[in-house]
Amino acid sequence: AAPATYENLRLSAPKPGVGLITLHRPRALNALSSALFSELNTALKDYDSDSTIGAIVLTGSEKAFAAGADIKEMKDLSFSQAYNTDFIASWSSTIPHIRKPIIAAVNGVALGGGCELALMADIIYCSSNATFGQPEIKLGIIPGAGGSQRLTRAVGKSKAMELILTGRNFSGTEAGEWGVAARVFDSAEECVNGAVDTAGKIAGLSRVAVKAAKEVVNKSQDAPLREGLEFERKVFHGLFGSQDQKIGMSAFIDKKKPEWSHE
Ligand code: CAA
Repeated sequence: AAPATYENLRLSAPKPGVGLITLHRPRALNALSSALFSELNTALKDYDSDSTIGAIVLTGSEKAFAAGADIKEMKDLSFSQAYNTDFIASWSSTIPHIRKPIIAAVNGVALGGGCELALMADIIYCSSNATFGQPEIKLGIIPGAGGSQRLTRAVGKSKAMELILTGRNFSGTEAGEWGVAARVFDSAEECVNGAVDTAGKIAGLSRVAVKAAKEVVNKSQDAPLREGLEFERKVFHGLFGSQDQKIGMSAFIDKKKPEWSHE
């Protein structure tokens, strides 16, 4: 069960159907400590099973989406501790299994694990002066929460190599140009509002169709094309067994607004 309050998160419902999670560890620029991540996993699971929520927005502050894994927490970690506790595996234990859409609204720094967290979301919105990057190489390590895989899929090998081998940052504007971010806004406020608006639109659609759509798009990230196409067609066929397919198509023909059953 969810704790009534979180130490490192703020939760709100800015629009019907939208759950907004704000990372709130201001003194460490939202560095992703184990405690913060554990709270984030709990909050995401709760939203995923909450029937009033249709989409989730994840954001930070104007200054920091997240400055990465907590360097103070991991500085003295030994290999055997990292290996035996499967350090950072908990970052991937929940987010990839959340079935409702997650939009990351990125303002300020999204560095290292912060960039990787944004890349785990389904959609990234950012402000033009956001700062993304995988600076791990400058700490004598490498990205450990998917950066080398997800960033490479997002920007291609040559650019990902340049970013990961040098640790240079890239701006929100570049993220937009490269397709890492779906939309780029002029200010942090517009970015969060934009993400909440899009989440609200998604939350107003059939939940069953939205979940299916997320599932099939994600399949494209790790399946060969033919397998992905077959998977898509099977899921497409399956939706003819949903009530919302009948509701949506009848509403179109009757020129009415569909009243989704979400079933
Ligand atoms: N871990 C722990 N604490 C952090 C942190 C981090 N990743 N990033 C910032 N902080 C802390 C700082 O230590 C500082 O705390 P104190 O006041 O106690 O010293 C506080 O947040 C404010 O930070 P700065 O004073 O450095 O603020 P700034 O505005 O001068 O600089 C910054 C901002 C450029 C983001 C700088 O803080 C920075 O470079 N942070 C580290 C970024 C980084 O290297 N991230 C990658 C981490 S490794 C990783 O994520 C591994 C992985 O793949 C999972």
